[in-house]
Parts: sequence; structure tokens; C-alpha cells
Amino acid sequence: MDRLDIKLWSLAARGHIVPERSLLKTPKQIAAIKKSAALNTAVLDHVEAHIHAGMSTEEIDRLVYDFTTSHGGIPAPLNYQGFPKSVCTSLNNVICHGIPSETEILQDGDILNVDVSTILNGYYSDASRMFTIGKISPRAAKLVRVTKECVERGLHAAKPWGHLGDIAYAINTHARRNGYSVVEDIGGHGIGLEFHEAPFVSYVTQKGTEMVLVPGMMFTIEPMINESSPDFFIDEDDGWTVYTEDNGLSAQIEYMVLVTGSGIEVLTK
Ligand code: MF3
Ligand code: CO
Repeated sequence: MDRLDIKLWSLAARGHIVPERSLLKTPKQIAAIKKSAALNTAVLDHVEAHIHAGMSTEEIDRLVYDFTTSHGGIPAPLNYQGFPKSVCTSLNNVICHGIPSETEILQDGDILNVDVSTILNGYYSDASRMFTIGKISPRAAKLVRVTKECVERGLHAAKPWGHLGDIAYAINTHARRNGYSVVEDIGGHGIGLEFHEAPFVSYVTQKGTEMVLVPGMMFTIEPMINESSPDFFIDEDDGWTVYTEDNGLSAQIEYMVLVTGSGIEVLTK
């Protein structure tokens, strides 16, 4: 046992949830995952530069596929558990996992989450942004603004040797204060060596609960914020698209972060 093992062991003995050592990335792994994350960010920048009213979400899929593969990467969603496209595009009342389509045309007033995940040299990265098309309603604008604030507050609540629940508490409190709700059963995840690693990251848990944030851990902060009910249903035909139960708007922003000895580093900005 080294000093870190002893520290983790004593935290566990006091009832804290601690990560397996395998979830703590080595400096070499971190360097490789950062390259993947940099490409992932470039893909999102590429989408940002080309998104416009009148284009289909299928065109966004092509932008993602072409840009990623021409830079030596692989879009992680493609064929992941049968997902048919290279990116998730979630429009208005779609919470997440929307499938790009030739017949889905972006229109003035839409809000769209584009969730990009990349494999580079076997290492995984994942981040999403909200895009607004043309002039959006004050109602939609507020949801997008508050979602961004939620993620920023979650980020600021995170610190090495704190808990995942500190992040969740900050996010959920800010969402509720604005009359919104946070989706409960779909959350974030560890990432880096695989697309989805432990831990599952909830955004509705309490301060001081859930896994301890140990330097070397990597995970996503990606709350889904609904303007009214947090309830959802999954499209029976495609098996993927997650809709708000009450047809309200939903927004999501995703950062991929690394816990370091001195703080939390965002890898996807
Ligand atoms: N970026 C999404 C997530 O991890 C990917 C969902 S799986 C997919 O939260 F197959 F839909 F891409
Ligand atoms: Co993710």
C-alpha cells in the first residue's frame, strides 16, 4: 500500500465512496486523453462555425464525421450500442440522444444541444454545447442561460477531496431556484479509457455524498435541465431519443473535467 492507498482506505473506512485506483489516470493517459479532448473541442468549434437555420441535423452529423475522421479520430457515438450516427442532436423538447435526420431542419427560434464524443488513439472525450438558431424566445433564452450557470456553479463547487454530490447540489439548487428541474435517471459518467466509465454522476444528490473527488479522476458534468417536469420517455421506434414527458423545453451543456491536486481542470473548453 502506498500513501494514496492508505488515504483512500481510511476514507472508505469512514463510509465515503472512493474510486478504484484504475479510475485514476496516469500522467501519460492524461496527456493522451487531453489530445482527444482538444480534437473534440475543435469538432464543436467546427459545428459552431457552420450551424445555421435551414440546415438539417443530418448535415451536422456529416460535419462531425468528416472533421473528426479527417483529423485521425473516430466519432464515439457511431455504432455505439447500435447508435446509428456520429453525434447526438437534441432539439427543443428532446432531452438527449437525439438522432440526426435529413428531415429535421433547424428553424428560427430553435434551441439545439450538439453532443460530440471522440476517440483519438483509443482515448475518449465527450462534451456538448447549446446552440440557438436565429431569434429565440425569452423563455428559451432563460433556460439556456440558466443551464450554463448551473454547469459553472457545479464546476466551482468541485474541489479535490470534495464529493460529487457537492457539484450536484450546486446544480440542482440553481435549477430549482429558477423554477426548473434536473433529470434524475440520466447523468454523467467517468471517461477517458472508455466512453462510459464509473462513476455514474447524478446531478440531484446532496452535498458531501457520492464519490470522493480524487486527483486523477476524469468525468463529465452534463446536467439536463427541464423547464418544468423532470420526467421523460424514450422514443419507442428509434429506441434512443429522450423526450420531456410534458413537452417542455430541455437544455444541456457538458464539460469533461479532470481532478488535479490543486483544483478541477476543464478539458473541453
Ligand atoms: N455523449 C453522450 C453521453 O455520454 C453519448 C450518449 S451514447 C450515444 O452522455 F450513443 F448516444 F452516443
Ligand atoms: Co457524456
